[in-house]
Amino acid sequence: MNPLCQQKELKEFCEAKGVHVSAHSPLGSNGTIWGDNRILDCDALKEIAESIGKTTAQIALRWAYEQGASVITKSFNKDRMKENLEILDWSLSMEDLDKINGLPRRKGSARSPIFELSKELEAEL
Ligand SMILES: NC(=O)c1ccc[n+]([C@@H]2O[C@H](COP(=O)([O-])OP(=O)(O)OC[C@H]3O[C@@H](n4cnc5c(N)ncnc54)[C@H](OP(=O)(O)O)[C@@H]3O)[C@@H](O)[C@H]2O)c1
Repeated sequence: MNPLCQQKELKEFCEAKGVHVSAHSPLGSNGTIWGDNRILDCDALKEIAESIGKTTAQIALRWAYEQGASVITKSFNKDRMKENLEILDWSLSMEDLDKINGLPRRKGSARSPIFELSKELEAEL
């Protein structure tokens, strides 16, 4: 779950059933076979980050946190670990949340065969 894979229907379903949602891959799992850099390279997220003095990663993590999800991110870098923890004492504005809500949804990763398959299935529906 991340700003480009918002899982709105799943989140609503889970809320209705009292199921807690965890946000795996909140930064898009860059560096894995199933992930890519589309979150960290997203211009809209970068613009929001620059406008409030945060990083793009922090915007994505804060967004997931504000959805009420447990944010399961990963870093091997001490500075980025610290950066990723510094999302608790500020919030996104309604305007910024609206911008993120309007981002195009994507399924899977551009590098993943699952992404191609999901595009084919979507075209058939
Ligand atoms: N059970 C499942 O189905 C499932 C699915 C997906 C993920 N997971 C687990 O969820 C956890 C999260 O993994 P993920 O790969 O999906 O995490 P992620 O947080 O979406 O992406 C991690 C990637 O982002 C980089 N990164 C982290 N913080 C950053 C920052 N502030 N700025 C720039 N880059 C940053 C990391 O590089 P550096 O390390 O170099 O910082 C790494 O390449 C892992 O424990 C994973 O095993 C489980």
